[in-house]
Amino acid sequence: MARIVGGLTTSHIPAIGNAVPREQELRNDPYWKEFFAAYPPAREWVQSVKPDVAVLFYNDHGLNFFLNAMPTFAIGAAPEYKNADEGWGIPTVPSFKGDPKLSWHIINSVTRENFDLTTCQEMLVDHGFSVPMELFWPNYSYGNMRTVPVQINTVQHPLPSPARCFALGQAIGRAIESYPEDLNVMLIGTGGLSHQLDGERAGFINKKFDLLCMDKIVNEPEALTRYSIHELVREAGAQGAEFILWLAMRGALSHKVRKIHSSYHVAISNTATGLLVLENAA
Ligand code: DHB
Ligand code: FE
Repeated sequence: MARIVGGLTTSHIPAIGNAVPREQELRNDPYWKEFFAAYPPAREWVQSVKPDVAVLFYNDHGLNFFLNAMPTFAIGAAPEYKNADEGWGIPTVPSFKGDPKLSWHIINSVTRENFDLTTCQEMLVDHGFSVPMELFWPNYSYGNMRTVPVQINTVQHPLPSPARCFALGQAIGRAIESYPEDLNVMLIGTGGLSHQLDGERAGFINKKFDLLCMDKIVNEPEALTRYSIHELVREAGAQGAEFILWLAMRGALSHKVRKIHSSYHVAISNTATGLLVLENAA
């Protein structure tokens, strides 16, 4: 049977995608030093658990889905996912392998549990997906590892509630664990932490709330599902609502998890960056 080995969370700012190819050189750069220093322990752990597939909970920022057609929840069921440059000057990265069989198993399983996902047999992925893959598999070493993208709307209101995202994650967790193939599955939740890129509160960061989220998500995630989506926007900023992606990922893990590594760093671009490595209970 498939086994969920653990969960990773990381922020996914486009500037990181731009910096990744120069990581060695930026290791001593005052702006990037602390950010990049956080990742080697996470990479070592990822290598040690030997994932075959990564299921990524991320948000599209207007690349594959735009305001004309915005699914609340969408899932990829394609053999391959290409990263398309969003016009930000991000280097083109090798494409990501899909796992249509596992995707359809998840789709069938969660539909039986009344989660109706938009199924995408073709899908482009943006920095919300590619930056975490580049950070955890340096030098684009994700190679033949398969991926399943799960996309959650954080762009056009109404956004799904933290509780709904957590429940979707739980259903996806049950789906993965009922997959008959012998696979090690890694979960990844991307985005956050507090940030607001536009409007009167542009540049807003809430360190106290971020640290509360990073603490509670480990062994008390239900406490965070009590926030409404508007309370989350108030506390974390308009784009900080991306924390629902971390919660969806956490829903798919076991009730108790072990924290292997974490980091919190303010700021890259206008964003508080957070990293978490959680080992799933056997
Ligand atoms: C930026 C973009 C993002 O999608 C995000 O989550 C954080 C920051 C940015 O453009 O700076
Ligand atoms: Fe984002």
